[in-house]
Amino acid sequence: MPAPFLRLGVNIDHVATVRNARGGDHPDPVRAALLAIEAGADGITAHLREDRRHIRDEDMARLKREISRPQISKPLNFEMAATDEMVAIALHTRPHASCLVPEKRSERTTEGGLDVVGGHDHLKIIAAELKRAGVRVSLFIEPSMEALDAAQSIGAPIVELHTGSWCDALFHGQTEKADHEFGRIRVAAARAHELGIECHAGHGLDFDTARTIASLPQIVELNIGHFLVGEAIFIGLPKALAKMRAAMDEGRQHAG
Ligand code: PXP
Repeated sequence: MPAPFLRLGVNIDHVATVRNARGGDHPDPVRAALLAIEAGADGITAHLREDRRHIRDEDMARLKREISRPQISKPLNFEMAATDEMVAIALHTRPHASCLVPEKRSERTTEGGLDVVGGHDHLKIIAAELKRAGVRVSLFIEPSMEALDAAQSIGAPIVELHTGSWCDALFHGQTEKADHEFGRIRVAAARAHELGIECHAGHGLDFDTARTIASLPQIVELNIGHFLVGEAIFIGLPKALAKMRAAMDEGRQHAG
């Protein structure tokens, strides 16, 4: 059976990071989202952090409004911490999906997967609440069997496997560690599929790692932000997306 199409979700948080550096309204993350869609993004991801360091409440509302227009109609993936405040905003915004992520104020980015074992009961309540509102729930987890079992018990239809440790190991030239981490992702993707959970992946991906991970046929969506926004400085967002799409398609040809 051929591997399913691999969707590209573009995370536009760091367009907002640049905007906020000067306190004005340029560059506009919603404009970047629309440009990304024009250039082939299959969906838009944005993380409304508790400290609003990049995306703000009004960005999320505008994003939902703009990309849901019938002539555009692309899904919004709302990344959020599992807090009452964020659940209330998600219930009001009604994104296509909510990806629940861990959040620490002191971290530079999302450093690890959710503690789905320790937070099981709390996450189960939140997942059910979002599901009742018609929002697809995704859990950002470490690629481990325990996390997958917990995700299933929580009732999440989707998991997003955290690829950060693998990408970090490659960046630091730690070949053995990188192979080990990639092995964990491969096994976890296969297990998610067995459990009937839709499998996504993301964090720290670039052209090379996206090409490699595209070879795992159970993964149906990649969410990529920082690298694409950085690359856009040099070659522009449409060209960066086209190169990413080509890398993913190339990797997908070797899926199996
Ligand atoms: N997926 C999740 C759940 C994330 O938290 C992030 C970072 O915001 C990403 C994907 C994208 O990671 P990156 O910006 O490193 O591509």
